[in-house]
Amino acid sequence: MKVHLVVAHPEQGSFNFALHKTAIEVLNKENIKFEVSDLYEQNFNPVAGKNDTTNFPIEDIFQLAKAQRLALSSNSFANSISQEQEKLASSDLLIFQFPLWWWSFPGILKGWIDRVLSSGFAYGNNAILKPKKIMYSITTGGANSKEELEYYQNKIDGLYQDIFGFIGWEILPAFIAHGVQRKTEEERTLLLKSYKEHLAKNVIVDSLVLSNA
Ligand SMILES: Cc1cc2nc3c(=O)[nH]c(=O)nc-3n(C[C@H](O)[C@H](O)[C@H](O)COP(=O)(O)O)c2cc1C
Repeated sequence: MKVHLVVAHPEQGSFNFALHKTAIEVLNKENIKFEVSDLYEQNFNPVAGKNDTTNFPIEDIFQLAKAQRLALSSNSFANSISQEQEKLASSDLLIFQFPLWWWSFPGILKGWIDRVLSSGFAYGNNAILKPKKIMYSITTGGANSKEELEYYQNKIDGLYQDIFGFIGWEILPAFIAHGVQRKTEEERTLLLKSYKEHLAKNVIVDSLVLSNA
């Protein structure tokens, strides 16, 4: 069992990083191997385009998915992409740690999805990546009522389905920390504790099953 942690937040002192560090603490304690992609720290370029691959024929109309398939078959992805694909390929579970921005991923993480989960690698005919598990750990600015909580849950289910449902991965329940910027230190400590419990229930249990198999 190996985990790939992708964190998308510009501030190491943020609650997102507190959650990310909690995941690392739990994995270390359980002796579970992991890789980290700290997208801001890596200065990850999120803009998919012609610089993603080195060999798309200059005379052809550029098509991203076609360029990605060609790059995969000829080992000609930009390093920033192939390094991420290697981390992903060697892992069983991907965890995205991010703040909800405009009901979606921060741009840097959306760009990671566009560029790293490439055609022929993560999806499409004969994709080479075997389906993994995915878990989101999200912070939000809300929610204040039962209706709002449901609204968030539906939005987040959509964010899962449109990507990882589409490519056939196993979706684990998201950990959602609502309204974190308005929480007291005590409430934040409790949230980190419930994240540990969420990981124990959804991730650690799996790793025990895998290591006993
Ligand atoms: C550009 C931007 C867009 C945001 N969009 C949403 C949103 O759609 N829904 C929401 O609940 N909160 C939204 N927020 C609030 C953030 O989710 C919230 O500030 C963040 O999760 C707090 O975590 P942090 O303290 O680790 O940054 C947005 C914040 C920013 C800066």
